[in-house]
This record gives sequence, structure tokens and C-alpha cells, in this order.
Amino acid sequence: MAAKSFKYVIVGGGVSAGYAAREFAKQGVKPGELAIISKEAVAPYERPALSKAYLFPESPARLPGFHVCVGSGGERLLPEWYKEKGIELILSTEIVKADLAAKALISAAGETFNYQILIIATGSSVIRLTDFGVQGADAKNILYLREIDDADKLIEAIKAKKNGKVVIVGGGYIGLELSAVMKINNLDVKMVYPEPWCMPRLFTADIAAFYEGFYKNKGIQIIKGTVAVGFTADSNGEVKEVKLKDGRVLEADIVVVGVGGRPLTTLFKGQVEEEKGGIKTDAFFKTSVPNVYAVGDVATFPLKLYKELRRVEHVDHSRKSAEQAVKAIKASEEGKTIEEYDYLPFFYSRSFDLSWQFYGDNVGDTVIFGDNNPETPKPKFGSYWIKDGKVFGAFLEGGTPEENKAIAKVARVQPPVENLDVLSKEGLSFACKI
Ligand code: FDA
Ligand code: NAD
Repeated sequence: MAAKSFKYVIVGGGVSAGYAAREFAKQGVKPGELAIISKEAVAPYERPALSKAYLFPESPARLPGFHVCVGSGGERLLPEWYKEKGIELILSTEIVKADLAAKALISAAGETFNYQILIIATGSSVIRLTDFGVQGADAKNILYLREIDDADKLIEAIKAKKNGKVVIVGGGYIGLELSAVMKINNLDVKMVYPEPWCMPRLFTADIAAFYEGFYKNKGIQIIKGTVAVGFTADSNGEVKEVKLKDGRVLEADIVVVGVGGRPLTTLFKGQVEEEKGGIKTDAFFKTSVPNVYAVGDVATFPLKLYKELRRVEHVDHSRKSAEQAVKAIKASEEGKTIEEYDYLPFFYSRSFDLSWQFYGDNVGDTVIFGDNNPETPKPKFGSYWIKDGKVFGAFLEGGTPEENKAIAKVARVQPPVENLDVLSKEGLSFACKI
């Protein structure tokens, strides 16, 4: 097979790839210069939709509705858009070997792709219970969620097991978003996770108490402090029971597992410098190998605001890092320089009628403000994180766009705080006056 050559290749066709393509087009990429190679069968789309509106029983989101760049209020990049721009979308094509010295990528079907400049945008894969040998974890209807094919399997299971029982393993992003959407689909939902409260990598006990109370009121049973250690299946090989470490056994027609992700860096192991589980980059997303960039979930980059290297597994960073890398590539071709990446971490989630946003760093002391009673009809509450006498992070449930902007500004400006009790009383008005 003859090798195909491109000036620029993006390996991975997810969120970063889509935003990188838009930036290339803005910067004037010529037809035939850019290719996106993706294992998925569809053009880049806004992945967050998969755990939310894609799984709704009524008027679910479907492609082409959520192709990038609608998630950040931009124009949708339909497959035709790539054609018009002369950007080659090479879909359903998994790269199985990368030879950075030879500037070559090889697909599962044996095709070779050569590039002058490579952008690695392979994202993350899910951690599976079979990875750590949980007994029976290969039974049918034990499901994960990363890509659109996974979401389609979930939809099939929801249809096949109408009004059935779901056990959600994991209390992080997937756990909370999937429990909600399964409940909306009229299934009986139980959540199991090992920690004392949900989303421990971000939530304080006070924040988590609200969501746990809210979920309980929706009829979701939460089982904390234990893990799934085994599964039994029926004669069709379909999951029937979840065995917990504390000895309890839960009936299940469907199990959804969300126990974390792993950046997909294996193709490049030993060829590029790594740090904190990701591919190490500079503030322009250049890796240790000339002409190779890494963006999105796989990049460990300098977070200027906190003067340290970080990896961020969220959509806002995947969009912005992709744009930064393309700007840097085009600037260097013209002998110009651009500003360093100066990222303010931004995470969000939505479930039921709830919607929260977080900006900054969750370090130091915390104060809670507002009404975090889960019975409240229109909840609005938040939290600040304070380190070295300054606000480092801010969380808000139920904020308006202006209020969310205000907490973002607080996290960026890091205003001084004299007294935590006063801050707690001032609450959101403290952010709004900055
Ligand atoms: P992304 O995962 O988007 O894309 C990677 C692409 O590379 C995929 O198309 C994959 O198939 C492809 N690929 C990988 N290896 C390959 C190979 N060897 N050959 C070819 N192709 C390959 N974040 C947030 O801030 N708010 C939210 O609400 C959500 N919600 C959410 C829901 C769900 C279900 C998931 C899984 C994730 C989120 N996220 C999120 C996280 C967010 O979606 C994530 O951080 C970005 O999609 C990361 O973008 P990337 O482009 O780095 O990877
Ligand atoms: P996560 O890291 O958010 O949560 C994993 C959860 O599983 C944690 O609570 C963890 O303690 C728990 N856990 C670990 N081992 C366990 C075990 N053996 N049994 C039960 N629980 C166990 O990861 P996730 O929710 O799987 O999300 C995967 C990826 O998708 C992440 O990159 C995440 O950022 C992304 N995502 C983000 C959003 C969002 O930003 N709104 C939404 C969905 C997914």
C-alpha cells in the first residue's frame, strides 16, 4: 500500500481534533495539507453530550446536532465542512504504531501515513474492571462510556431492560451523570463507590451532601465505602448480580462502570517525554520531539497560574489547548511567536435540573455559602477555596451566566480574604463585586 503524506496530521478525532481543525481553517490551511485520523466512525463531536442529552428518553441529542464546535457556541463542523476546506477525515481508522523518528503512523489495516507536523489528540480510554481482574466483570450488560458506540450500547440496554435495575459503579463524573440519566429513563438506580462522599477529587463534604441528598430524593440509592468485587451472570451471560466487598449483593440488569480514565499515550511510549501520566509539553503544546504536539487529555502542560505541570481531563481545556497548538504551529512557520498558554481550570457538570461550574484550584481551606439544602426548589449555593489568604477556587451550583463569570473572575484574580466567616456570609456577592 502506498503511504499517504500530509503536512499536518492529527491523530485522534475527538474534541481537540475538531477545534484544531477549525483553527487551522481560520489560519488558512490549504486543501490536502491536513488530515484527521480517527478510530471513531464519525466526525469530531462534543463528547460531553454522550452522558447527558444523548441518553434522554425524549428528544435525545443526535448527530449531526452536536458536532464540534456547538458546545462553545460556535458553528457546527459537519462532515461537508471538512470536505469544503480540503481537510481529510480518515475515519474508522485506528493507528496501531507510531514511529516518530520516521514521521510515520501505521493503521490497523496496514496503511502508512506520513506527516511533517503531528498533533497527538488521542484523549483517554476508560479503566475497566477487567483490568484489575474483578471476577465476572466480562458479563454482558456491564457497560462503560467513552465513545458514541458505547452510548449506543447503553441505549440498547435501556430499551432491552425497561424499568429494570441499574447499578452504577463509581461516584465521579460518569457515576453522577449516568445515575441521573438512568433515573430519567425510569430505571431503578443504585450507586456504589468506595469514598465517604461523591466526586471526592473536587467536592468538599458539604458540596457532596447536597448532591447525595438531591439524588436520594430522586429515588437513587447510594452505597458508599465499598466496591464491587464480583458479578454473577445468568445462563445468557448477562449480568444478574453485583457482589460488594462488604458482603452485600445487589440485583442488576445493567451495570454502568465509571471508575476513571487513562490518557492514551501507549503509541508513543519511549519515544516522547512523559510526566504525570501524560505527554509532557511546553506552553505551546510542543512535546520533547520536534514537530510533535500533544493536546487535550493526553497533554501534561505548564499551568502558568499555579506554576506547575498539570494534566486536565475536561472539555474546555481540550478546546483551548488545540487552538493554542495550531496558533503556535502557524506562528512558528511565519517566524512569529504567540503568548504562552495561561489556562484557568474550568470544570462543569449537569444532571437533572442541576448545573454547576468550578473555576481555579481546589486547594486550601473552604467555606460554603448559600442554601445547600437538597429540598430547596431552586438550589443556589457555592464554595470558595482559600490558600495563603487568597481565593484560589470557586464553585457554584445554579448560577446565572453572569454569576458564573463572576466566580471565574475571582479564581483568576485571586483576591485577598481577611476573614472566612465574613466571606461565607458575603457568599456570591463577594465574587460579584470583584
Ligand atoms: P477525545 O476523547 O475527545 O478524543 C480522542 C479521539 O481519539 C477519539 O475519537 C478516539 O477514538 C481517538 N483515538 C484514540 N486513539 C486512537 C488511535 N490509536 N487511532 C485513531 N484514533 C484514536 N468534560 C467537561 O468539561 N464537561 C463535561 O460535561 C464532560 N462530559 C463528558 C462526558 C463523557 C461521557 C466523557 C467520556 C467525557 C466528558 N468530558 C467532559 C471530558 C471531555 O469530553 C474530554 O476531556 C475531551 O473530550 C478530551 O478531548 P480529547 O480530544 O483530548 O479526547
Ligand atoms: P472520575 O475520576 O471522575 O471518577 C471515578 C470514580 O470511581 C471515583 O469516585 C473513584 O473513586 C471511583 N472508583 C475507583 N475505583 C472504584 C472501584 N473499584 N469501585 C467503585 N468505584 C471506584 O472518572 P469517571 O467518572 O469514570 O470519568 C472518566 C473521564 O470522563 C474523566 O476523564 C472525566 O473527567 C471525564 N468526564 C467528565 C465529565 C465532566 O467533566 N462533567 C463527565 C463525564 C466524564
